[in-house]
Amino acid sequence: MLLHEFSSATAWIDSMVEGWEALGGPALRARGTFHVSLSGGSTPRPLYDRLAKTKWPWSATRLYLGDERWVTPDHKDSNYRMIHQAFQETGVHIERVPTEIGTADIGARAYEKQVRTDLGEPPRFDLILLGIGDDGHTSSLFPETAALREEKLLIAPNFVPKLGVWRVTSTYTLLRYARAIWFVTRGPSKEPFVRALAQDDPSANFPAAKVRSDRGTIEIYHCTQP
Ligand code: 6PG
Repeated sequence: MLLHEFSSATAWIDSMVEGWEALGGPALRARGTFHVSLSGGSTPRPLYDRLAKTKWPWSATRLYLGDERWVTPDHKDSNYRMIHQAFQETGVHIERVPTEIGTADIGARAYEKQVRTDLGEPPRFDLILLGIGDDGHTSSLFPETAALREEKLLIAPNFVPKLGVWRVTSTYTLLRYARAIWFVTRGPSKEPFVRALAQDDPSANFPAAKVRSDRGTIEIYHCTQP
């Protein structure tokens, strides 16, 4: 895993915008559409705000949710809500998890069907952005939860006992297909995980450390400035 470390948030975001353009241009020329799976949480919001102000072919870009909280799209905890607020001026298509239908399992099934329809088989995102939680979780793959062991599904419902909530998450299988994966992290609380990933520490046993790619690249964009 390639580590890009920055002490300034501006340099961190500049570098990711350059990376986005370096991946997106060839993807658009090769396939006509740039398919990107975005992470939720708070860390990536400044990047999304900057991207939304960037001159970019948003009509040829499709954004997806790498994971979602099982709440309505207008709920304060909704990842879709955060991403929609950031990108609404661009008019880009954001494919959201249908959290208003039935159960997290039904929502996950519907979302996986959409991803397979849009990206083909196997569905390869051009870029997947992932965060890392303070317990080492990534997407909504939390420690000691069922979705960690999921091999068949690409999008899985996942109950998180310590939060008492349902989530819908990308599985390791879907992540493995990606052409490029970026961990986007910031601040001292994420340092131990970033170090373990960058050093490919074999004893690292937190969910983000189990992310693998069958052909793509995995990079870490870490900002040390909180
Ligand atoms: C979510 C995310 C999750 C997030 C981490 C880090 O829905 O919460 O997708 O995986 O990336 O929890 O969150 P912060 O960026 O807020 O630290």
